[in-house]
Amino acid sequence: MAEDTMIRGTRPGEREIILALYPLAFPDEDLRPLVSALLDGEDDTLSLAAFAGKSVIGHVLFTPFADAKNPQASRGALLGPLGVVPHRQRQGLGDALVRAGLERLDDVGVAQVFVLGAPAYYGRFGFHPEKSVLPPYDLPPQWEGAWQSLTLSARPPLSSGRCTFPAPWMQPALWLP
Ligand SMILES: CC(C)(COP(=O)(O)OP(=O)(O)OC[C@H]1O[C@@H](n2cnc3c(N)ncnc32)[C@H](O)[C@@H]1OP(=O)(O)O)[C@@H](O)C(=O)NCCC(=O)NCCS
Repeated sequence: MAEDTMIRGTRPGEREIILALYPLAFPDEDLRPLVSALLDGEDDTLSLAAFAGKSVIGHVLFTPFADAKNPQASRGALLGPLGVVPHRQRQGLGDALVRAGLERLDDVGVAQVFVLGAPAYYGRFGFHPEKSVLPPYDLPPQWEGAWQSLTLSARPPLSSGRCTFPAPWMQPALWLP
């Protein structure tokens, strides 16, 4: 990561500069409604950004959720979206954002982190295909292996079955190519 960058939790007044990153990182889909709803959502949503000066050059969200069968005992978190502005990609920012998030989630006792993404990218953090805890909607066959998880601090994984996430994630279109 370049010396002029820093990663920290975002603040309520930074919504617009966070949202401005998304059309740059994801030119083919509009993730701003999702990100906006997640930023408005649960207090324990983890929003981390990489800044170069006052500009947001990378951003990641982690949405915590309770174990469906054992809500008092165990919590998971869903990673996403994750985006880096094109001119700062492949400089370690995505890596640093994910690792910073995993460390914070570990500190607050989250047991398992889930992601729907490229195994070739997320494998470096220790994510592996998840077959027991299922996403809220069936995934198309070409996304076999893209639903992944990582357990933190050797905590027991979440109970098997289908997850229910906070409302912004419960839209089938978000789980289709
Ligand atoms: C994916 C993304 C977040 C990675 O962030 P980044 O800061 O560019 O990544 P890092 O510098 O940490 O890591 C770069 C490495 O990741 C690899 N990588 C990036 N995207 C990848 C993908 N989709 N699949 C596999 N590898 C990928 C690069 O090839 C590079 O590897 P190399 O340096 O060995 O060649 C960023 O490229 C991005 O915003 N892409 C567009 C939005 C997107 O696809 N987000 C992911 C949603 S799940």
